[in-house]
Amino acid sequence: AWSAATGEREVLLAAPRSFCAGVERAIETVEQALERFGAPVYVRRQIVHNRHVVGDLERRGAVFVEEVDAVPEGSVLVLAAHGVAPTVRAQAAERHLRVIDATCPLVSKVHQEVRRYAGNDNTVVLIGHADHEEVVGTTGEAPDHVLVVSSPAEAATIQVPDPTRVAYAMQTTLAVEDASETAAVLRRRFPALKGPRTDDICYATSNRQAGLRAIARRSDLVIVLGSQNSSNSHRLVEVAEAAGTPAVLVDDAGELPLDRLAGANRIGITAGASAPPALVDELVRCLSGLGPITVTETGEPTEDVRFVLPREVTQP
Ligand code: F3S
Repeated sequence: AWSAATGEREVLLAAPRSFCAGVERAIETVEQALERFGAPVYVRRQIVHNRHVVGDLERRGAVFVEEVDAVPEGSVLVLAAHGVAPTVRAQAAERHLRVIDATCPLVSKVHQEVRRYAGNDNTVVLIGHADHEEVVGTTGEAPDHVLVVSSPAEAATIQVPDPTRVAYAMQTTLAVEDASETAAVLRRRFPALKGPRTDDICYATSNRQAGLRAIARRSDLVIVLGSQNSSNSHRLVEVAEAAGTPAVLVDDAGELPLDRLAGANRIGITAGASAPPALVDELVRCLSGLGPITVTETGEPTEDVRFVLPREVTQP
């Protein structure tokens, strides 16, 4: 695929990459629920936005449903990592489901902020993508008080009932720079704007973006492992492109666009927070099958964030 004269192809692994603490916790929650309660364990929506993770749990007895009304009364239901609106919990209670909440604690924190601001009669401007599951869930905490904006341009024109009572919150998986630009527009327009002490974009999102930024410019092509519905994975593609490097988002090595590899002597690799680490190994193996490679890792590989599992799967 590339000229022998160029010698070995270089593979640059960005660190950190792949699973975050919230995703690990969510997957483990389903595994523990299967062990404790036996199959089937129902899961509302994809537990995390990754095709491989979902397929693997499905084979082990998890049943993924769109809505709570598809779950037989009295069953075990796991709520996915992205969080849900309170109405979903109410529906689950109505069906007498045994609910296990795998919402990432960092998403729950944003829910709490929104509840608090809205409770004090603020309009909450939620920076994020209106159709993303996380944003739908967060908005559901106070639908009459939340307005979603996705860009600085939208922030510049949004109308609120009382400009002195405005707060903001964010989706956890945004592009760090875009989101802070949007927040800056809000701050200019509403000097009394209230907001979280530190931005709501989670450590995993910002670390993966920083890790990729460190290798993107040196790469001829960046491969991001992740599913098409993974927000943080798409943001990684954007980070590479912002550095001037073309990037592709693929679920696994099998989807590698071989034509794009031609002439790419340095290949940057990262993986979204919902993409299993084994897929990275597989991708590197696949690249080494195409010709000699040297692999180097750049960045800070260890993140020591861990979340305890929901007590429904841990208490005796
Ligand atoms: Fe949670 Fe961030 Fe992962 S919000 S699920 S730690 S990407």
